[in-house]
Amino acid sequence: MAYNDLRMDNQWLPFTPNRAFHKDPRVFVAADGMHFTTHDGRQVIDGISSLWCVGAGHNRKPINEAIKRQLDTLDYSTAFNASNDKAFRAAEMIAAMAPGDLNKVLFCNSGSEAADTSMKVALAYHRARGEGHRNIFIGRERGYHGVGFGGMSVGGIPANRKVYGAALLPRVDHLRFIHDPVNHAYVHNTEPVWTEDPLLELENRILPLHDPSNVAAVIVEPVAGSAGWYVPPQGYLKRLREICDRHGILLIFDEVITGFGRLGTAFAADHYGVQPDMLNFAKAVTNGVIPLGGVVCSDRIYDAMMGAHGSAPEHAIEFFHGYTYSGHPVACAATIATLDLFREEQLFERAGQMAPVLGDAMHAALKGLPNVIGIRSYGLAAAVELASLPGLPGKRAYDVFLDCFHRGVLVRNAGDNLVFAPPFIVERGQIETMVGTLADAIKRVA
Ligand SMILES: Cc1ncc(COP(=O)(O)O)c(C=O)c1O
Repeated sequence: MAYNDLRMDNQWLPFTPNRAFHKDPRVFVAADGMHFTTHDGRQVIDGISSLWCVGAGHNRKPINEAIKRQLDTLDYSTAFNASNDKAFRAAEMIAAMAPGDLNKVLFCNSGSEAADTSMKVALAYHRARGEGHRNIFIGRERGYHGVGFGGMSVGGIPANRKVYGAALLPRVDHLRFIHDPVNHAYVHNTEPVWTEDPLLELENRILPLHDPSNVAAVIVEPVAGSAGWYVPPQGYLKRLREICDRHGILLIFDEVITGFGRLGTAFAADHYGVQPDMLNFAKAVTNGVIPLGGVVCSDRIYDAMMGAHGSAPEHAIEFFHGYTYSGHPVACAATIATLDLFREEQLFERAGQMAPVLGDAMHAALKGLPNVIGIRSYGLAAAVELASLPGLPGKRAYDVFLDCFHRGVLVRNAGDNLVFAPPFIVERGQIETMVGTLADAIKRVA
C-alpha cells in the first residue's frame, strides 16, 4: 500500500516539528496487534502503545464490535439533564476498579480536561465546606497534566509553559523533581531508596510560605511519564498522602499514563498502596480507540458537594461543569469492552510479567553505550537518558527516534530520553527487536 499523493498542506501537527516532518513524514494507514503499516507500506512496531494508550494492542475485535453495535443503537445523546446506559455502566466498572471510596466518576474527553476538571472540583469542594480561601495548587517540576491552562500551570515542563507567562494560574507552586542523577541514574524495576527526603521541602518551605490552610490540592503523576519515566523514591507517595492529610489538602493522582495496567495493577494507587482523593484517567481506558477521560472522586468529595446544597432547591445544579461529550455513549461502549478485555485476557497481570523482561533487556543492552547517562525501568515502561548535545537539548534523542523509526520501531523521545511503553501483549522477541534497534541507533547517532 503506497500513498504517493499524500497532501500535507493543511494539518498543523501537535507537539511535532512540522517543518522537519514534511521532509520525512511518518504516516500510519493501518494497525494490527503490535504493528503499524505506514503510508509507504512498511511495518513499524508500536513500542509506545501509541502514547500509553493501546494496552491491549491494536485492532481488537471486541472493542471494535462494541463500538459498531453502539453506533447502530444509540449514536449520541446529550449529557446534560440526561444520560445514557453505557455511561452509567462504564462509571460503575471504573468505580469498582478504583481503590477505596473513589466511587464518583466525572467523565470528560482527555487527560487535559481531566486535569482541569479535578482542579475545579478541588476549588468547588473547599468552597462547599466553607474554605473557599483554599485556592493554591501544588504541582511538581517536570510534571505533565496536559495543555489546558490549569494543567499547564501545575505542570512543570518548561517548554510547555515558557510562552504563556502571566496567563498561567497565579497561585501555583511546584515540588522539586523526583530524580537523583548522581545516586540513582539507573533504576532497574525497584524503587530508588534516597537518603534524603525530597518532601522536607514541601513541609519546611512550600507549605509555610503559602500557609497550608490556603492550599487546595497537590497534583502529581505517581510516576512522571511525559518527562521521561522518572520513578519516585521509596515511600514518597505515602509520605505525600500523610502531609496532605495533616493539612486538609486534597491529593490528586494524575493516572492518565499509569492507569489501567501500566504498573501491573489497575492503578498506580494500588501498586503504591496510596489512595488519592481524586484519580484522573484517560488513554488506556478505551484502549485509545475513542477519546475518553475522567476524574474518579471520593465519596467524601461528592457528599460535601451535595451536602452544601442541602438547603438549595432540588432543581439547583450542584457543580457547574461538564462537556458536551461527557460520557459519550460510543466512548463508554468502548470503555466497557476494553475493561472486559483487560480482565478476560488478564492483561494487567501480563504487563506485570513482561515488566522485568523489558527492564532486563534495556539495562543489558544499553548500559555503557555512548552518551548513555541513565536507564530507568519500572512497570512495563523503560527509558534511557542520553547526554544532551551542547546547546541542542533534545536533538540527540530526536535523531535516535528517527533512526529507530526508519528501522521499524516507534520509540518516544522526551527531552533526551528514549522511552518504551509497549502494549501489554508484547512478546519477548518483540522486546528484543525494539531494544536491539534502539541500541544500534544510539551507537549510530553517537
Ligand atoms: C499524566 C498526563 N496527564 C495528562 C495528559 C494529557 O492528556 P491528553 O493529551 O489526553 O489531553 C497526559 C498526556 O500524555 C499525561 O501523560
